[in-house]
Amino acid sequence: MSSARLTLDDKQYELPVVVGSEGEVALDISALRAQSGAITLDPGYGNTGSCMSAITFIDGEKGILRYRGYSIEEVAEKASFTEVCYLLVYGKLPTQSELLEFDRKLTYHSLLHEDMKNFFAGFPATAHPMAMLSAMVASLSAYYPDEDGSEDVPLNIVRLLSKARTIAAFSYKKSIGQPFVYPRNDLSYTENFLHMMFAVPAEPYRVSPVVNRALNLLLILHADHEQNCSTSTVRMVGSSQANLFASISAGICALWGPLHGGANQKVIEMLEAIRRDNSDYQKYVAMAKDKASGFRLMGFGHRVYKNFDPRSRILKAAADEVLAEMGKRDPLLEIAQHLERVALEDPFFVERKLYPNVDFYSGILYRAMGIPTNMFTVMFALGRLPGWIAQWKEMREDKQTRINRPRQIYTGATERAWEPIEDRERVPASV
Ligand code: ACO
Repeated sequence: MSSARLTLDDKQYELPVVVGSEGEVALDISALRAQSGAITLDPGYGNTGSCMSAITFIDGEKGILRYRGYSIEEVAEKASFTEVCYLLVYGKLPTQSELLEFDRKLTYHSLLHEDMKNFFAGFPATAHPMAMLSAMVASLSAYYPDEDGSEDVPLNIVRLLSKARTIAAFSYKKSIGQPFVYPRNDLSYTENFLHMMFAVPAEPYRVSPVVNRALNLLLILHADHEQNCSTSTVRMVGSSQANLFASISAGICALWGPLHGGANQKVIEMLEAIRRDNSDYQKYVAMAKDKASGFRLMGFGHRVYKNFDPRSRILKAAADEVLAEMGKRDPLLEIAQHLERVALEDPFFVERKLYPNVDFYSGILYRAMGIPTNMFTVMFALGRLPGWIAQWKEMREDKQTRINRPRQIYTGATERAWEPIEDRERVPASV
């Protein structure tokens, strides 16, 4: 397969074919407009490749996810989160000494500039932690500026990975009115986060190994997912040569929406609503099937996976294990399992290939770990950081990168004469 032929009116155009390392096929239309005057139209970008990337491979039909060639199942079983950060960002597995050095740097850069504490003070206690996280990450650029293009990217990557964790924990402390707990250099990346989240000055805090393991797993499973909404946003903003912090802050905002990373919070809210409604999950399945209701089963369906999301399988097993190890029972887990069983057998879901996605079981685990619902999307953001950074770095280093600037098909009024204000019909003031 070397080229495709497009016929437009009576003219023919050759479109080169690009094949990826896993055999994925694309038609290269980069010269199409110059040659023919036509553009392609693909709302929601379901058929559009925005870049070439060597970071993550997904086969949504087969339920395959690999980071830099390593299967998610193997990575989840064998790696630590910081090892995955290294793998995604630098493209190879670290040696022992490289990982030690990387961990040391992440530990060393965990403190926030003391002035940044004033920002937290300015937020209302009810502020969503995602609002604080996105604002604070953008604000890091004020402390580590890139005047005249001199941003120290390698160092800022480490700073961001390390400080985002401190920001996330501080925003939680702010929301519950507890004093900030500073990072400790004797703890690992994930232990340090749990310590900053849950320790109080009044008593010693011991990080539970079960919770630490679960956190490690959750962060790894969220670490990258190729050109999703937030990652595409990071690349879009970064393509204008905005600095690393600004680009990632934009990605955090994109992640916030309930159709993306905000879904994990919505899943728990939905399961709680079902529980309050006598656990009548059948009613909610029926509602999801009725388009007029406007209700969707949160945590179901995915733009790319038309099979089980491999991450949801791992999380389902982990949720069972962690709850058992912690000696906890969560009625929401039982409702989730019922819901999954019913939905997977129902023709509406089967025909549309709607399977549980990563967010369906992650919330159950976060709850078991003591993480409050409004922090779920923040947890997702912490996990996704290395992916965003790796994609931003790849985009910046790619010689073919141009500012991202899609086109449109205009459907508005054609040219018309300006109407003097006194000749215009009265319109209601609210318009
Ligand atoms: N519940 C009920 N019906 C659904 C659901 C759902 N969760 N998801 C999709 N459908 C139906 C749609 O109504 C549509 O039906 P139709 O063909 O009869 O019109 C069909 O399945 C296809 O759905 P689309 O919205 O076209 O699929 P799209 O790829 O645009 O959306 C999305 C994917 C946004 C994830 C969607 O499935 C959804 O809204 N899910 C719930 C929210 C959620 O869990 N988001 C997290 C995604 S994972 C992540 O971002 C980490």
